[in-house]
Amino acid sequence: MRHLSPTAIVLARAVAMTGLIVMPAQAEPNRVIFPADLAQLVHYATVRRGPSTEHILTSQAALDAMKAGKPTPEGTRFVLVDNRDGAPYRIFVMQKGAGFGAEYDERRRTADWQFQWFWPDKSVNMQENTARCQSCHQSRAESEYIFTFSQLKTFSGRPVE
Ligand code: HEC
Repeated sequence: MRHLSPTAIVLARAVAMTGLIVMPAQAEPNRVIFPADLAQLVHYATVRRGPSTEHILTSQAALDAMKAGKPTPEGTRFVLVDNRDGAPYRIFVMQKGAGFGAEYDERRRTADWQFQWFWPDKSVNMQENTARCQSCHQSRAESEYIFTFSQLKTFSGRPVE
């Protein structure tokens, strides 16, 4: 660094610091929107996990498609309502849309699905980087990136506890 001017060093430091702040990919509002029709979606599975009772929902059309071994329709959402002490604590949403996948590089991509974490007031959790969601759900590429495919297949249409 001896041959660099002090200004250049200050500049280099500033760039490095900005890099540090910006580099951990930020949480971002993306194409996923809070499901306005949450109450109309079908609750097909419940997963109990520590303090959470997770209610998992999707549309009837998506259920029918997956049971028939067909791709889910454009615009499909899967929703996980994480209830704690009997009230929604956070709401996870996966949404499928044309071109959604093209917004990510190949390593991160989960076909045309994007993921988001909402609080019960419908705001996005800006502390979360949804690449994390994708990296875990990538292992379920063969079932539209969902983990609860076996529960979906055996869902009888009767209300789930
Ligand atoms: C470490 C792995 C992991 C990460 C990270 C993760 N999930 Fe999941 N997700 C799961 C598992 C496992 C389930 C099935 C329910 C269960 O076992 O709790 C699930 C279920 C879901 C479901 C219901 C559909 C399904 O897959 O069965 C949605 C929607 C969902 N997650 C969205 C998200 C979002 C949004 C994020 C990021 C904010 C996220 N997930 C991060 C593992 C993960």
